[in-house]
Amino acid sequence: MIKMTGKIYIIGIGPGSEDYLTKKALDTVKISDYTVGSTRAIELFENVKGKIAFNVKDLVDKLEEGVELAIKGNIVSILSTGDPGFSGVLNTVLRISKEKDFPKENIEVIPGISSLQLAAAKTYIQWDNANVMTFHGRENTEDILPVINNGKITIALPSRKVKDMAQFLLDNGIEDERKVVVCERLSYPDERIVESTLKDIAQSEFTYMCIIIIYP
Ligand SMILES: C[S@@+](CC[C@H](N)C(=O)[O-])C[C@H]1O[C@@H](n2cnc3c(N)ncnc32)[C@H](O)[C@@H]1O
Repeated sequence: MIKMTGKIYIIGIGPGSEDYLTKKALDTVKISDYTVGSTRAIELFENVKGKIAFNVKDLVDKLEEGVELAIKGNIVSILSTGDPGFSGVLNTVLRISKEKDFPKENIEVIPGISSLQLAAAKTYIQWDNANVMTFHGRENTEDILPVINNGKITIALPSRKVKDMAQFLLDNGIEDERKVVVCERLSYPDERIVESTLKDIAQSEFTYMCIIIIYP
């Protein structure tokens, strides 16, 4: 039997609202045989063929299913919130593809607007000189400590709760009055941008969908 090889597109879908979807993302999903993504991500597109929805628990299984379908000759789009290369699925898909001998030349990454970019835009931050960090899904919160006092703005995806991250900084000697901005649910109708102090943020509740900005 001749082995066919399809194509995988790893697509950034932006921070959530369809206003931030790129035309390239829309056009690519349209030509795909299968689209893998969270239900919320898939719902941003119309007339999606071969929907494969994942949740946190079966994410890797569904990505593997997507790669298998591409190995069989299909065009497969894999949707990633924001940009796939910033705390997104890029590395996981590359690892699975490598394990399954799917050629890298048949993988294309389509960038999206990261939640980090939108947070920086909303707060007028030129982020090329910021400490950009992610703690999402990791246990590396202490990595923030060597940079938090380096005179630059720190923009981070928190590990879990924003308040825990703020408390961690207070516990490690960062001043109560340090200016902090939390950008929550960016691009959604209930988007919130809260400017406050580290002490106040440590006592405030937010959803998991937040970017935290800590000023020098
Ligand atoms: C798995 S990471 C994906 C990040 C994504 N690749 C990006 O570039 O924005 C998910 C985390 O990104 C942040 N995030 C994603 N969308 C967001 C939004 N609309 N508003 C605020 N934070 C968001 C939250 O910290 C969330 O827990």
